[in-house]
Amino acid sequence: MKQTILVTGGTGFIGSHTTVELQQAGYDVVIIDNLSNSNANVVDGIEKITGIRPAFEQVDLNDYAATEAVFKKYQIKGCIHFAASKAVGESVEKPLLYYRNNLNSLMNVLELMTKYGSKGIIFSSSCTVYGQPTPENLPVTEQAPIQKALSPYGNTKQVNEEIIEDYIHSGAPIKSIILRYFNPIGAHPSAHIGELPNGVPMNLIPFVTQTAIGIRKQLKIFGNDYNTPDKTCIRDYIYVVDLAKAHVKAMQRVLEQETDPVEVFNIGTGHGYSTLEIVESFERATGVKLPWEYAPRREGDIEAIWGNVDKANKVLGWSADTPLDEILSSAWKWQVKLREDGIQ
Ligand code: UD1
Repeated sequence: MKQTILVTGGTGFIGSHTTVELQQAGYDVVIIDNLSNSNANVVDGIEKITGIRPAFEQVDLNDYAATEAVFKKYQIKGCIHFAASKAVGESVEKPLLYYRNNLNSLMNVLELMTKYGSKGIIFSSSCTVYGQPTPENLPVTEQAPIQKALSPYGNTKQVNEEIIEDYIHSGAPIKSIILRYFNPIGAHPSAHIGELPNGVPMNLIPFVTQTAIGIRKQLKIFGNDYNTPDKTCIRDYIYVVDLAKAHVKAMQRVLEQETDPVEVFNIGTGHGYSTLEIVESFERATGVKLPWEYAPRREGDIEAIWGNVDKANKVLGWSADTPLDEILSSAWKWQVKLREDGIQ
């Protein structure tokens, strides 16, 4: 008998890749998404890859009654909670929208999981909770102090971690694994699913691929006066397919093993690459020349961060090993496919 996993935000970038990996690992998947930042045809892309169409419920998790109807309809064993508003800049302009969406939706899910007997929740958190680590503390471990978030978006990740901990420690009969991602990038190698940002991309890789295909004129590298070897920022770029696989490992662990009620894992590669190295790797991997120039620092950017992922390697038995060039090729293949399909 297959177990059913609810994936909230399952038509989004990480949610869709995770749905594929869950199906390939033998789970049934039910997606809830309000399509506020994604498209229903992502479900077709998932089906093309796996040959299995996940159940899809267009529901806003803030709508308690509609969410409860989904819990009534399916026997949900576990939940992976991605659904959230995620634009850092927008969260500064509309903090209440972010707090309402991101906090309420988690609370509704937790309450309904308890009411309907679901056992485990994997929560999508972010390395943003570490703020700017001091260089001697790099790579950051899960024990690194949580620092005050720079944006309401970042704060919702911190508060949601606390909501999960407080709720489970109050005796709720569910367990959780909190995954703190570094920078997820790339697309499925089939190019049936990938990242589809709204408007001008804020994140580096969609901006790179859109520039390479001619939608944007030039990439601006924000800051060349950082205290790093080539003076540009450093991040831990993790392939979205590797990241998706970490969720399957976490779900198997939370459902099948005796564990602490709440566990936290960094999910990254353990290596940092500079923005300039990303540009070089992209050009090498694709053979496409990328127009770029240096621009002033972007406000709120941290200088350098990459993760210590020993705990995920040892305890989850997971590691991210896709080479950077291959990851950037997948992002390019996806961008080319969007062009062919007349989407971008
Ligand atoms: C951002 C979010 C983070 C979120 C993550 C998801 C902020 C402050 N943080 O991280 O909360 O979890 O996305 O992936 O927004 N860069 C350029 N030119 C560009 C775009 C980016 O040089 O046009 C540089 C940035 O300065 C940064 C690096 O590329 O050094 C990565 O940027 P980005 O993809 O936006 O991710 P983060 O800012 O690390």
